[in-house]
Amino acid sequence: MFEQVEEYPVDPIMIGADYFAADPQRDKLNLTVGIYQDEHGQTPVLEAVKLAEQRLVETQTSKSYLALTGDAAYCRVLGHEIMGDAFGNGWVSAQTSGGAVALRVMADLLAQMPNPPTIWLQTPTYGNYVPILTAAHARFAQVPYYDRLKAQITFDQMLDGLKAARAGDVFLMQGMCHNPTGADMTAEQFDALLDLLEARGIVPWIDLAYLGFAQSWDADCSMARQIAARFPECIVCITLSKTFGIYRDRAGALFVKTQTPDRDRMHRAVSAIVRSGASHAPDHGPSVVRTILQDPALKTHWRKELDQMRARVAQVRQQIADVERTEFGTDRLAYIAKQSGMFSLLPLTETQETALTRDHGIHVVKGGRVNVARLGESDITKLIRAMTEVTSAK
Ligand SMILES: Cc1ncc(COP(=O)(O)O)c(C=O)c1O
Repeated sequence: MFEQVEEYPVDPIMIGADYFAADPQRDKLNLTVGIYQDEHGQTPVLEAVKLAEQRLVETQTSKSYLALTGDAAYCRVLGHEIMGDAFGNGWVSAQTSGGAVALRVMADLLAQMPNPPTIWLQTPTYGNYVPILTAAHARFAQVPYYDRLKAQITFDQMLDGLKAARAGDVFLMQGMCHNPTGADMTAEQFDALLDLLEARGIVPWIDLAYLGFAQSWDADCSMARQIAARFPECIVCITLSKTFGIYRDRAGALFVKTQTPDRDRMHRAVSAIVRSGASHAPDHGPSVVRTILQDPALKTHWRKELDQMRARVAQVRQQIADVERTEFGTDRLAYIAKQSGMFSLLPLTETQETALTRDHGIHVVKGGRVNVARLGESDITKLIRAMTEVTSAK
C-alpha cells in the first residue's frame, strides 16, 4: 500500500542540520538553525523558566484535560499582555501547540467558510505558511515584501499588490523581526499599510514569533495593539518558543477579534477544528508562561533574560557592520545592523550561495537566510571573507 506514497517536500530548514552533518569540511559553520543560539551554538534554558517549572512541580494537582481551547487564564493573561486594553470580551482565544498550530487552526477555519477569503502573504516570508495553507486547502496569493539583492523592503510593490485584494480577504503579516528578512516596516509604513487594509476592508492577520527581540517586549507588542484597537475583526497568532526559549514545550495561542453576534459561534468553530486536528494543546509550556507572567518577580527575571538575548543579537548585528568596514573597507552588510531579530538574508545569488557552502563550509537556508545570533567574533570575519570571495568570482 505505501508504495503509493508520493515524495513530500521537506522544509529546507529541517534538512539543514542533515546537510551540515554530512559536510566533510572540518571548519564548517551552521547558520541554518531557526532558534536563538549563543556563539557556541547553545540554546540555554532561561532561569525564570527553571524557577517556574519547579513551582509547577510542587503545586500542580491534576493533569486532567483542559477545554479544547486550553487554559482560559493563560489566554487571558497573554491576551492582555499583548493587546493591552484592546483585548476583551469580543475575542475568541485558544491555547495552541506553538504558533504553527495557531496558524493551522486559523487556516482551516478560513478555508472551511462557505465563501473562503484569499489569504495574502508577503514574499519572502516564514517558510511554513505555504505548507500550512496548502494542507488546509486555503486559497492564498502573494505580494512582494523584500528585495534580497538590494536588501530593501519593497513597500510600494506590497501595497500595489494588495490593491488586487477584495473586501473580506485576509492579509497575513508578521510582527517585528520579520522571518527570514530581518527587515521590519517603519512606523509610517505600518500606518500606511493599516490605512490601506481598513479602506479596502481587508482583515489583518498578524503572526508574532519574536516579541522582545526587536526593541523590548512592550514595544514589540505595539503592532498587534494597533491592529487590535483599530479593526473590528482581526487575527493574532503567537508563539512563545523564542521569547521564553521553550521551543520543544510548544506554547502558543490564537486570538480572534470578532463582532459580538459571531463570538460564541466562532468559539465553537475553533473548538471543533482543534478537536479534529491537534486536539488538546500541551500544557507544560503554557503553564510555565502563565506562571511567569502572573508573578511580578519571575516576570522581571524573565524580562531581564529576554533583554540579554536581544542585546546579544543587536551586538552581533553591529559587529558584522563594524568588522566589514574596518577589516574589509566595504559596507555591503551594513544593512544587517539596522535589522532586527535572529535572521537576515545575505545578498547572494543562488550560485554564490551554493559556493558559500561548497567552498567555505558556511551553511545557510536556501534563499540566503542566516541565523545572526549564531555568529561568534571569528565567524563574522570568516563569513565576510567568504562572501567577498564568492561575490567576486567570475
Ligand atoms: C514567523 C513565524 N511564525 C510562526 C512560527 C512557528 O513557531 P512554533 O515553532 O513555535 O510553532 C515561527 C517559527 O520559526 C516563525 O518564525
